Amino acid sequence: MDKKVADLLKDQVNKEFYSAYLYLAMSNYYYGVSLDGFGHWFDVQAAEELDHALKFLKYLQDNDEKVTLEAIARPEADYSDNRQPLEAALKHEKLVTSLINAIYKQARTVDDYRCCQFLDWFIAEQGEEEKNTSDLLAKYDLYGGDAKGLYLLNAELKSRPQTTEADTAQA
Ligand code: FEO
Repeated sequence: MDKKVADLLKDQVNKEFYSAYLYLAMSNYYYGVSLDGFGHWFDVQAAEELDHALKFLKYLQDNDEKVTLEAIARPEADYSDNRQPLEAALKHEKLVTSLINAIYKQARTVDDYRCCQFLDWFIAEQGEEEKNTSDLLAKYDLYGGDAKGLYLLNAELKSRPQTTEADTAQA
């Protein structure tokens, strides 16, 4: 495998673990302010990120690349209001999209079509993740300012299903 592609993929393993950790910090914040629906929504998000990390790890292992599991950075968790984590989550997803795009670009430059095909799933997934997060932020802006609206939105978020392996394989 091209060294640059391999290094970017290895770095992405750590970035995806960090994403899981960041979303756990967000769910932890929401449980702390008694918004357990928002907490649950971010728990599901964190589980998806863990799955992403493992997908990158498995791809590297399947292609005979040695991976060192690096330390996971401490996530930013100093939120001063209930909107901040949502804004930060959207910003983070956009960053992840740019990272995936950079790996794709390098893989294309060196004609690594197998890697491009592997990344296709992530390209689509990022579109979905950005949409889900920006939809949640929009809902919060529409309904979150009013106590009744926030109560109902929190209740709705409690029903977000866990993403199963079958769902991610299909996606
Ligand atoms: Fe793994 Fe939300 O990107």
